[in-house]
Amino acid sequence: MNSDDKNQNLLNQVTSTLMNTTPDLNKLYAVAGAALVSGALYYYLNSGPKPKRINGFDYENQTKEVQGRTDGARICTLNESEKLVSYYYEDGKTLYDLFKKGEKLSNDGPYLGWKPSLNDPYKWLKYSEVASVAEQIGSCFIHLGLEPSKETFIGIYAKNRLEWSLTEIACNTYSMVSVPLYDTLGLEAINFILVQTQLKLVVCDDSEKALQLMNTKSNLEFIIVIDKISEEARNRATELNLRMFSFDEVKQIGKENLRKPIPPKPEDLATICYTSGTTGTPKGALITHTNIVSISASMCFLLKKQKDIRDGEERYLSYLPLAHMFERVAQATLTSLGGSIGFYQGDVRKLVNDLQELKPTIFCTVPRLLNRIYASVTEKIEKSSALKKAIFRWAFAQKEKEVAKGIVRNDGMYDFAFKKIRESLGGQCKMIITGSAPISPEILHFLRVVTGCIVVEGYGATETGGACSVQLPYETSVGNIGPPFACCMYKLIDVPEMNLVVSRDNRGEVCVLGHNIFKGYYKDEEKTKAALDSDGWYHTGDIGMYDKNGCLKIVDRVKNIFKLQQGEYIAPEKIENIYIRSKYVAQVFIYGNSLKSSLVSIIVPEETVVYEWAKQNNVEANFIDLCKNSELKKTIIQDVSQIGKAGGLKGFEQARDIHLHHELFSIDNGLLTPTMKSKRNELLAYFREQIDVMYKSLD
Ligand SMILES: *[C@@H]1O[C@H](CO)[C@@H](O)[C@H](O)[C@H]1NC(C)=O
Ligand SMILES: *[C@@H]1O[C@H](CO)[C@@H](O)[C@H](O)[C@H]1NC(C)=O
Repeated sequence: MNSDDKNQNLLNQVTSTLMNTTPDLNKLYAVAGAALVSGALYYYLNSGPKPKRINGFDYENQTKEVQGRTDGARICTLNESEKLVSYYYEDGKTLYDLFKKGEKLSNDGPYLGWKPSLNDPYKWLKYSEVASVAEQIGSCFIHLGLEPSKETFIGIYAKNRLEWSLTEIACNTYSMVSVPLYDTLGLEAINFILVQTQLKLVVCDDSEKALQLMNTKSNLEFIIVIDKISEEARNRATELNLRMFSFDEVKQIGKENLRKPIPPKPEDLATICYTSGTTGTPKGALITHTNIVSISASMCFLLKKQKDIRDGEERYLSYLPLAHMFERVAQATLTSLGGSIGFYQGDVRKLVNDLQELKPTIFCTVPRLLNRIYASVTEKIEKSSALKKAIFRWAFAQKEKEVAKGIVRNDGMYDFAFKKIRESLGGQCKMIITGSAPISPEILHFLRVVTGCIVVEGYGATETGGACSVQLPYETSVGNIGPPFACCMYKLIDVPEMNLVVSRDNRGEVCVLGHNIFKGYYKDEEKTKAALDSDGWYHTGDIGMYDKNGCLKIVDRVKNIFKLQQGEYIAPEKIENIYIRSKYVAQVFIYGNSLKSSLVSIIVPEETVVYEWAKQNNVEANFIDLCKNSELKKTIIQDVSQIGKAGGLKGFEQARDIHLHHELFSIDNGLLTPTMKSKRNELLAYFREQIDVMYKSLD
C-alpha cells in the first residue's frame, strides 16, 4: 500500500467512525416539541449569554499600518505596542528554557504521553522525568564523540512518538540541532540530506528504516533504533563498521556518563527542516530557537485572551508529522502553557480512539480530516427523513445565530444535537486550529456551529517557522487567515509577471518579516536569495489581499495563476478546493490552457460513493469501468458545477469537461509532492492525452 492509499484508507476509516456520530435526533424531536409548547423558550432565545469576544478588541479593524514605514507593512492591532514579540516569558527564550518553564507552570505535571496498545490507557512522563531521560540521551551522544554545539546535527527518522520528542529535547539540552527525516521525502531525498548535512547519527523507528539508511551513501557512524533490532540490521551494521544501539542502551550509556546541560542561546540553530518543492532537491530551512519561540509566544498572547485556557491544564494530541514545523510549533506552544502532549498510536486509523481517550483541549489538524467530518455528517443528515432534516436545520440555524455573535459554548439549548460530533473529538476541545491548506469557509463555519468550540484557520510556511498567522479567538468571519502573529508583519508587493499592482488591484504577493522568519536554506545561497530579500522579507509565493476587517485572505499561488484566452485570471487551486467538496470527488486537478477559453479537469472519484451510485443506477462494473461510464460522468459534472456555483465560481472558472481517472494521485506515482500537494507539471504531462481529447471535443 503506498502512503497515499494509506492516507485515503485512514480517512475512510476515520470517516466511517464519524459516520456513526450524527446528532441524536430523538433528542432533537424532544426539543422541537418543547420549543412548540414552551413560552419560556421565547424568553430564553432572547436572553442568551454575552459574547465572549476579546475585551476591547475591534474585530472589524484587525491590522494597521506600521508607523514610519512607507511599504504599507501591517501588524495586528491587538497590542498597542508596535514592537514585534520574540518571547513571552523573560526566562523562556529558547526551547530548552520553555521546557523548564512548562515544568514550573504545570508544577511538574504530565508532559509526554503514549498509548502502548489499543487497550492500554495513556502512560505519561512528567516534565522532570522527560528532562532526566533527555539528559541521558544527550549525554550518550556526547560520550559517542559528538560535540555539544550548534554544529552537531542529529537525524530523527521516525513517526511521531515519545522517542522523537525525547531526542529533540536532548538536542535542545545540549545545543545540538535536530534534522527530521520522513518517509514521504523518498529515498533519494533522504540520501541527499544525509550527504548534505554529513549526519553522523540518526535515531530511527525500526530495523527497516535502519536498513534503508544503511543503503545510502552517507557518513553515518551511529544508528539508534527505537523498536527491536533485527538480526539482519545488526549484521549489516557490522559489515559497514557502523555502531547500532537500542534506545535503552543509549539511555544506559548516558546514565553512566551523565553531563550537565549545555543550553543553547536564542539565536542558535534549533533544527534544519527539509522541505521539497515540486521540483529539484529538498531545501533545508535553517530554524533558530527564536524562530520557534517567537511563534509560541505569539500563540500564548492569543491563547491567554481565551478565557478557558489555563496553564498546566491543556492537553494535545500529536498526530500531524513532527517533521514539519507546524506540529513543532504547536508542541512548543503547549509546552509554554505547561500542557500535556500525547502521541497518537502511530496509526491514523486509530485516531478516533486516541481522541476519545486523550480528550484533547487544543486540536491542530488539517482540512482533509475536517472535510471528511463535514461530508460524513452532512451525508448522514441528507439521508435522514424530511422531518429529521428539518429539525436538524432548525437547531443548526438557531445555533448559527449564537456563533455569529461570537458566542462560543457547547452547553446551550441546541448543543446536545451536536453532542456526538463533539464527542468524536474527545468532547473537551476548546480550540481547533486548521492549517497547511485552505479550508472551505462553509466547512469552517459548520464546524464552529457543531463543535461549540473556537475553530480558527492558520497560515504559514516552513520558512516562517511553520506559522505566521491565525484567526483570533472568537472570530466569526470565515475565508481569511486573520492578522499576522505578534512576532511578525505582512506586506503585499506587486507581481509584474502577473500584471498585479497592489495600489490598483488591492492584491499582491504576501511577504513576511519578523522574528519567526528562517535564516536561509542550508548550503544553498541561490534558493535563499530567491526566498529572502536583502531586507529580510520572506516572499511566500502566495497572492493575498486584506478583507474588510483587515485580515489577510490568500487568493492563490503566484506561479499557479494563469490567464485564459480572453484574459480572465484563473486560480486553479481555488477551484480545486471547491470541487473537492463534492462527495464524488477524491482528488481533482484543474487545467487551463491560455490559448483556450475554458478549463478542463481530471477527477479521481471517491470509490465508495461511485459504487453506491452504481448500485442505485443498476450498473454492474468494477471501478475502472465505472470511471468510463458516461452517465456517472454526467452526474459528477453536474454535481461539481452546482457546488462550484454555490462556492461562488464564475462561469469561466468552471471546468467544461472532466476526465474520470481510476487511480489516486500519489507520491509514489510521482503526481504529489511529499507534502501531498499536486505536482501540476507532472499531472499535465501524465494526462496530456486526455486533456487534448477534452479540448478537441470542446473546440
Ligand atoms: C483601527 O485601529 C487603529 C489602531 O489600533 C486606529 O488607529 C484606527 O483608527 C482604527 N481604524 C478604524 C477604522 O477604526
Ligand atoms: C503587548 O506586548 C508587550 C510586549 O511587546 C507585552 O509585554 C504586553 O503584555 C502586551 N499587551 C497585551 C495587552 O497583550
